[in-house]
Amino acid sequence: MNIEFTLNGSTQSTNISSAERAVDVLVRHFDIHSLSANCLSGKCGSCLILVDGNPVYSCTLPGFLLRERRVETLEAFQKTKEFVVISSEFQKEGIDVCCAGNNAFMLIALYLARKSIAPSDDDIREALANAYCDCLAPEHYIRTLRTALHRLDTARKTP
Ligand code: FES
Ligand code: FES
Repeated sequence: MNIEFTLNGSTQSTNISSAERAVDVLVRHFDIHSLSANCLSGKCGSCLILVDGNPVYSCTLPGFLLRERRVETLEAFQKTKEFVVISSEFQKEGIDVCCAGNNAFMLIALYLARKSIAPSDDDIREALANAYCDCLAPEHYIRTLRTALHRLDTARKTP
């Protein structure tokens, strides 16, 4: 079947089989290498994408449900000023995450940054539930993200 959708700002179309998951479509058909299919059960976040602005596990999403949706991956976010500010704050704080964690934590940061420059702890914790990690304390992520969002707000206001 043919599907058409927006991927990182460009309209794309491709022929997929009904068995393909969204992660398969994005990796195999479009070379989206920020994604990996680790647990395949919506637990780790290594396949996280934003669909119409919301975090979604692409391993549990049938590929055909990408049709007419707006999909964003880390590849697009990495080219933005938001990414530079957020990732440099993470580096400064010594947060060194694995590839799977990097995908999920960065996209969650983008999702939260768009929602509010000062998300509540509950909002951050709820979004963090989309990523599995046993090496980073949630409090460290929350504190770092808050500082990064503050810096982002300042950067946006600076002409
Ligand atoms: S591979 Fe999708 S959540 Fe782990
Ligand atoms: S960042 Fe990968 S397990 Fe913590």
